[in-house]
Amino acid sequence: MDHFQYRDGALFAEDIPISDIVSKFGTPCFIYSKATLVRHFRAYADSLADIPHLICYGMKANSNLAVLQTLAKEGAGFDIVSIGELERVIKAGGDPAKVVFSGVGKQDFELRRALEVGIHCFNVESLAELEHLNAIAIEMGKVAPVSLRINPDVDPKTHPYISTGLKANKFGIAHKDAIAAYRRSSELLGLSPVGIDCHIGSQLTDVSPLIESLDKLLSLIDQLADIGIQLKHIDLGGGLGVTYDQETPPHPSEYLALVKERLAGRNLTLVLEPGRSIAANAGIFVTKTILTKTNQDQHFAIVDGAMNDLIRPSLYGAWQNIVPVDTTEKPGQIEASFDIVGPVCESGDFLGKARTLRIQEGDLLAVRSAGAYGFVMGSNYNTRGRAPEILVDIDQVHLIRERETIDSLWALEHTVDD
Ligand code: LLP
Repeated sequence: MDHFQYRDGALFAEDIPISDIVSKFGTPCFIYSKATLVRHFRAYADSLADIPHLICYGMKANSNLAVLQTLAKEGAGFDIVSIGELERVIKAGGDPAKVVFSGVGKQDFELRRALEVGIHCFNVESLAELEHLNAIAIEMGKVAPVSLRINPDVDPKTHPYISTGLKANKFGIAHKDAIAAYRRSSELLGLSPVGIDCHIGSQLTDVSPLIESLDKLLSLIDQLADIGIQLKHIDLGGGLGVTYDQETPPHPSEYLALVKERLAGRNLTLVLEPGRSIAANAGIFVTKTILTKTNQDQHFAIVDGAMNDLIRPSLYGAWQNIVPVDTTEKPGQIEASFDIVGPVCESGDFLGKARTLRIQEGDLLAVRSAGAYGFVMGSNYNTRGRAPEILVDIDQVHLIRERETIDSLWALEHTVDD
């Protein structure tokens, strides 16, 4: 459930009409609902209230400072993949001691900074990374808490670009090499093996691959205990899907009931890294119809939002619902099957295809489920400024990122003298 609902035919974010926000901040824009973000976070937190846990929001999904601040206040930790993300956590008032650091290519300066601020754990993805981290920790007189990301070789049955737990993926340490890697990490004086983790993919709509991976990790934990390596936490990554269209992903409580059943009697803290399931349906992308046109019987609504703002449809062929901001019928609207396309000079620039809608020039459309992997994947392609981000909190509207100005688009560039 989210807090973007119609009242008398007009779309609202919590208690604010979307059209009011647009009058003030223009289009295109991203609008988030604070109550929805919090609700989704609590779906995890409430389910885990009775066991030791740490929910590290997968902040790559949406890393706006106000979003991080909202979740930090709820007690969230953060799953980061770069030093930029770590600095954002700190800036937003998050606790570095609740940060896990994932990623296949962490650089020395990033490891150093994370050691300096004292993060919760390094999710190490290769033997080479173990050695780098050990050397840096020793040099700094520290001991780095590590978890090894094990690639459980389980098919998450999701889009190939967002599936990460198969042998063919670049992520993690192969399941068969796990024990040897833990032995090595326990020999290195700069490291302390404290956990084990996996993340098999994103937008999973079935729990069975997640549970299969959990079972594989638990069996490794037992084998490690037999050789004297006692782990304190298990991190199952993120991955729970959301409803974009007709998908029926499990509710976090259903998934976590199964996880808790398996963890019963074990002295393990559960770490999770959910991103999309917290942020996706807490945001919409609002765009205005510039004009409509018909080419060879194909109807197009050309809107002011484009692939540089929201790339998921172009990049993954992702389907996101597109709805009118005002459902009242107006004379002049054509009802047809429209391709909703942006002004960018690429045929791949579309937000949705074959959508049956009533549209005329000036009409506002909302692309649903745009709170995760929306703004963060944006670019300045075609020298388009990035859209502003707005957070609604009941009846308060906060501009949490300004629209990029034209000047800002070349602020870091230099012309060269003849
Ligand atoms: N942990 C790790 C190590 C990850 O790589 C990811 C996402 C997450 C957690 C969060 O996963 P989530 O709960 O959001 O599924 N841009 C793609 C999604 C890429 C996901 C990358 N990793 C999309 O728009 O669908």
